[in-house]
Amino acid sequence: MPKQLQNFSSNWMRFDRFEELEAEDQSLLLAAREALKKAYAPYSNFHVGAALLLDNHDIVSGANYENAAYSMCLCAERSAIATAVSAHPGRQIIKIAITVRNPAKPVLSPAAPCGACRQVMVETEYRQQNDMRVIMQGEAGEVYVLPSSKFLLPFYFDGSYL
Ligand code: THU
Repeated sequence: MPKQLQNFSSNWMRFDRFEELEAEDQSLLLAAREALKKAYAPYSNFHVGAALLLDNHDIVSGANYENAAYSMCLCAERSAIATAVSAHPGRQIIKIAITVRNPAKPVLSPAAPCGACRQVMVETEYRQQNDMRVIMQGEAGEVYVLPSSKFLLPFYFDGSYL
């Protein structure tokens, strides 16, 4: 059966201010902001934090972890997801919050995950057969909320093709 085509553009919400978010989303974004303090980013000096809310209400976080061999750099989102699925097997990831800090230039638009992280986020939804809510903010300013990471990756590839 071919996959249903989805409307990728309409399924996201934009909040002008952090305070407009529901309390649980606010807490997760704060956890992501704490996580980015653990970034190891001596090469880019670009700090990324991701926090995951599990179905037992635990929060697992991750930060980017760079390497002198640049292509070895690990993104915050994938670090957090790998930590969650290894340390909390069988748990569902309900939400992911992502934020960034660039000391050289304030980032005031929401932090967009890279393409590789989007693919891994979609795989996580495929594996758990449930969507993850995605909450993204820069250092301040507006926040984007998506009901699923699939809206970050139109025409995504997943295991249903195999
Ligand atoms: N980075 C992330 O952690 N997540 C993303 O989705 C985008 C990029 C990191 C990788 C690298 O350490 C730094 O940001 C600059 O690219």
